[in-house]
Amino acid sequence: MRVAIGNDHSAVELKEIIADYVRELGHEAINLGTDTTQSCDYPLYGEKVGRAVVSGEADLGIAICGTGLGISLAANKVKGVRACVCSEPYTARMSRLHNNANVLCFGARVVGSELAKMITQVWLETEFEGGRHQRRVDQIMEIEGKS
Ligand code: RB5
Repeated sequence: MRVAIGNDHSAVELKEIIADYVRELGHEAINLGTDTTQSCDYPLYGEKVGRAVVSGEADLGIAICGTGLGISLAANKVKGVRACVCSEPYTARMSRLHNNANVLCFGARVVGSELAKMITQVWLETEFEGGRHQRRVDQIMEIEGKS
């Protein structure tokens, strides 16, 4: 899989750890984040990851800021994105299984690197279940057409 990874200044180190881990798991990691700790604005990187996923440049995306919140809000403004903040593996698994999340977000100031790796692994390895969940995901996406 091709996984787009974006981050702001608060998550440079964790981004590098997660990108290496994504490669270790056998996937391609596309770095769309900042590589310096100089203060920057997370919306740019949330949007970059979202656009990479929606355009097909990447199959899935991972977006990391201090909390995971700001970058997820930005990614979710890109039509077609379903970004979820997951701070533990159960939510990460369910976000794929039931919500068909296509962008995973977490906070570098919230989760440690080992927990972030577990979250990433379970998220990348879980497939969308479809069925009744497809209808609900469709309903979420229809909201975009109304705004
Ligand atoms: C940057 O200080 C911080 O606000 C950002 O990384 C993120 O946590 C925003 O939601």
